[in-house]
Amino acid sequence: MENLSPRPGDLEPIETASRDEIAALQLERMKWSLRHAYDNSPFYRARFDAHGVHPDDLKSLADLAKFPFTYKTDLRDNYPFGMFAVPREQILRIHASSGTTGKPTVVGYTRRDLDVWADCGARSIRASGGRAGDIVHVAYGYGLFTGGLGAHAAAERLGCTVVPVSGGMTERQVTLIQDFKPRIIMVTPSYMLSILDEFRRQGLDPRESSLAVGIFGAEPWTNAMRREIEDAFDMHAVDIYGLSEVMGPGVANECVETKDGLHIWEDHFYPEIINPETGEPVADGEMGELVFTTLTKEGLPIIRYRTRDLTRLLPGTARSMRRMEKITGRSDDMIILRGVNVFPTQIEEQILKCAGLAPHFQIELVRNDRMDAMIVHCEATGAAASAEARAASGKELAHHIKSVVGVSSKIQVHEPGGAPRSEGKAKRVVDNRPKG
Ligand code: DLL
Repeated sequence: MENLSPRPGDLEPIETASRDEIAALQLERMKWSLRHAYDNSPFYRARFDAHGVHPDDLKSLADLAKFPFTYKTDLRDNYPFGMFAVPREQILRIHASSGTTGKPTVVGYTRRDLDVWADCGARSIRASGGRAGDIVHVAYGYGLFTGGLGAHAAAERLGCTVVPVSGGMTERQVTLIQDFKPRIIMVTPSYMLSILDEFRRQGLDPRESSLAVGIFGAEPWTNAMRREIEDAFDMHAVDIYGLSEVMGPGVANECVETKDGLHIWEDHFYPEIINPETGEPVADGEMGELVFTTLTKEGLPIIRYRTRDLTRLLPGTARSMRRMEKITGRSDDMIILRGVNVFPTQIEEQILKCAGLAPHFQIELVRNDRMDAMIVHCEATGAAASAEARAASGKELAHHIKSVVGVSSKIQVHEPGGAPRSEGKAKRVVDNRPKG
């Protein structure tokens, strides 16, 4: 793999600023953001008043903890445009994330917001090893989802040649990669695995492809998956994080030279980690729920947004801005099985330890005799597809899950191609337990 460390002059000054400089900028911007939310969004004014706080109460960054949280339900309750803090005419773009239940969450961007988003995205691609002149294949979905258009604007801002493929039509994805020879691909890690299968189906060697860097996000994935994809394609696999409510892809990104967690672009997004039960902030280094406050957003300022994502904050390394550890999972996706907390990422790690198993999987929850049970649907690799080999892989996986994760599970090893495939965000858990 290529050495992609940044060259002198590649970085923006803020990426190597001192912690004091970053904190001073954050405080100034946080004061503006709270004031803007309070003055221009009736939602925030009512919420702050009810909580007995005023923007003037923020004298230091730590004072942010006095302010109330914002939840996904707040965006739903104010559907569609009720949380915007500028007149609707100043909103140039709408995105929405489809929840599993009820109305989608709608977000809006002013011209300046779109600009900042493209800048943060460009910084993210550069941190991943991309540079002006690269061809970037975007296979995140285009549309209301922020992935496609977010990645697109980011790559254009960096000065790349963008190929806006969007998700789906996997055969064509491979044809375009072979013909256009992109250096960079931006796609969910689970869909990258579908693209990998398609390379092999067409008899092509993925290691011979032009791809040098994959920028993967929009769903949790593990370091074990990173190694799997890096080996398969002989490319760097780098993690990108974001969420619509805060902006979209490019809130945080790994640096290709370290791959040690995601640097949060703290000049625009202020992170906190809280104890999800008590709501109290925890110290850097402790696990908890990630909470974000936007520092520069005009259209939809977000104050202390509860992401439900679980991680911890770490000091900066390749950049001075703090890192967040690769996300373990969302509290919504946590399975509680006979008292043990299980995340799909833990199952992913165990599957990738089994040589006879392909990396595709889905977890099904069922109830037998009033006991909850977990069935892991996975599939054999072509080389281990016989009935005996599948049974042996299933036993091996059940053993790893029992000894590392601590729960008993039933494993169904399907034939090659038998596990569900992803074209975007993978659905890792299917709950077939009776309702109520
Ligand atoms: O998924 C934005 C995005 C697009 C990020 C493309 C990266 C690449 P939403 O649809 O609003 O936005 O979903 C946000 O996805 O709260 C996390 O639970 C999850 N997520 C996003 N990136 C990562 C990541 C986009 N790198 C939700 N690792 C977030 C783990 C991620 N989970």
